[in-house]
Amino acid sequence: MCGIIGYVGGRPCQELIVQGLERLEYRGYDSAGFALLDGPGHGFALVRAVGNLSKLRAASESLNGASVATTGLGHTRWATHGRVTEANAHPHLSGDGRVAVVMNGIIENYMELRRELQDGGVVFHSETDTEVLPHLIARAYQGDLVEAIRAVIPMIAGHYAFVAAHADEPGRLVGTRFECPLVVGVGTDESFLASAIPAFLHETREIINLDDGDIVVLDADGVHVLTADGASAPHPVERVEWDEDAAEKGGYDTFMLKEIHEQPAALWDTIGDRLRDNGSVIIDELGLDDAALARVERIHIVACGTSFHAGLIGRYLIEDWARVPVHIEVASEYRYRTCLAGPGDLVIGITQSGETADTLAAMRVARERGAHVVALTNIMGSQATRDADGALYTRAGLEIGVAATKTHTAQVMALALLALKLGRLKWALTEAGATDLAEDLRRVPDLIEAYLASDGPAKVAEVAQRYRDREFFLYLGRHVGVPVCFEGALKLKEISYIPTEAYPAGEMKHGPIALLEEGSPVVVVAPDGHVFDKVISNIQEVKARGARVIAVATQGNRQISQHVDDVLWTPKTPALLSALTTVVPLQLFAYELATARGLNVDQPRNLAKTVTVE
Ligand code: AGP
Repeated sequence: MCGIIGYVGGRPCQELIVQGLERLEYRGYDSAGFALLDGPGHGFALVRAVGNLSKLRAASESLNGASVATTGLGHTRWATHGRVTEANAHPHLSGDGRVAVVMNGIIENYMELRRELQDGGVVFHSETDTEVLPHLIARAYQGDLVEAIRAVIPMIAGHYAFVAAHADEPGRLVGTRFECPLVVGVGTDESFLASAIPAFLHETREIINLDDGDIVVLDADGVHVLTADGASAPHPVERVEWDEDAAEKGGYDTFMLKEIHEQPAALWDTIGDRLRDNGSVIIDELGLDDAALARVERIHIVACGTSFHAGLIGRYLIEDWARVPVHIEVASEYRYRTCLAGPGDLVIGITQSGETADTLAAMRVARERGAHVVALTNIMGSQATRDADGALYTRAGLEIGVAATKTHTAQVMALALLALKLGRLKWALTEAGATDLAEDLRRVPDLIEAYLASDGPAKVAEVAQRYRDREFFLYLGRHVGVPVCFEGALKLKEISYIPTEAYPAGEMKHGPIALLEEGSPVVVVAPDGHVFDKVISNIQEVKARGARVIAVATQGNRQISQHVDDVLWTPKTPALLSALTTVVPLQLFAYELATARGLNVDQPRNLAKTVTVE
């Protein structure tokens, strides 16, 4: 949530800062701003604007001459404290205008600090928690920005990453982080500081990952990392091999559509070399050897949003293939309940970004109890991997669309691999059974690829057009179709703002059926499998109440068309693996409805790609 970019070097940096912010816009897009520092004796040139980055670009045209500045810091905001206004947009300045700060995260004791500063005569210009920082730094400043920041850090509570500059020290940026990401980009005679690598990936692939409590100084001498007590703490420079084009739309209208179409590749890559023909699975990064994994008696899964839905699907896979009981809960609840995980338990935190505050907190709670915690994530080196004992990486590539698509199916695939591995280790699967499942899993990406190249997506678009004006959708499914419904319904509500309800079809009679009236659209996930007939009965029940049914069903099924109004066909798979294929038309359905309504699917209102606040 929110994006930070900072630059120190020899080049005029206004455009570098704005471009960096554009690449971070997926993290927050309520408002944005930057401050540039020209040279000794000058103050900051500050530009801020409400709305997306095009508004900031327009506002920055008012800057005449500041574009020669070679030190700058910028921010794109997702509001937490204070409304979406220009005054609340970052950077924030100290009263004397000499200190500029951009921050991600939350200063939890800001009210107290604000009162204390106000009592000392400080006038605040925003409603944000961030603004206490420039004032505190200015008050502590005695000619050295690093020392001032070191003095301020013990005063603040919360989780944050911030970057500051002082007008008396042009050519210098100082940043620090605690439980929020901040990464350094190391260029030739220049360096960057950002909340995420894509911000500077066009400029350098050499990065330094910072640890909690590190203070980093960027200046003409390069990059220096210090500990909280000021000691030098050199960090290794690592190289990222990410595909730069991942941050571009590559011919698609939106990132979301591009990422839907990247699902076959995300799944092939997630399988990679981990799956052997005989059904054995090699996952190197779990931090548990096979003997220890075989002893796991209980699994807890914690996650939020779409990642939680992947976890729900994972439960079906793990319990069916490995016969290990799985407890799953949304992280924001798990973290505040009595945690019963302990030594011998495996806890999986699923988070594509590796940054979701609640998921990280839930993982920490379980780790403190002695459980072995694994981060299932798409981002190597993310906070989740640092907080965990091991990892399970999806290899979906960078996902920019706020609505998660390819990372979701990649998470399900990763859980399937883990389930298969556990199934063999626990002797719940025979070698022949595991071999068949391995073959089934390998086939899934090909099936999705063929589906995306078929007339299936056009059919989804046609159906979506017909339903574009509906104001409510009910989603029903059974078995593994239930989490698929949850996910389909979440996709629709987050990008089209249409209210949805998703329910286990068998539970519908206990309440949601009252929502139905003549013509109400009901999306039913109805792949072939042992609950298909039960789902047909539920379809008849909603039809009897006048509903119009859109079914997601298996290609070649002869019965379904007699019972429903529209069918979105999906490829044939074993029942459990239908979770990977049936979700694709639902992603497209949400996409088509939202675009038919003229909405920006990559930047849905009020949402942000990474939720670093609880
Ligand atoms: C997905 O479409 C949503 N944007 C959201 O629910 C997301 O899955 C959730 O915030 C969790 O994110 P994470 O996987 O990065 O932890």
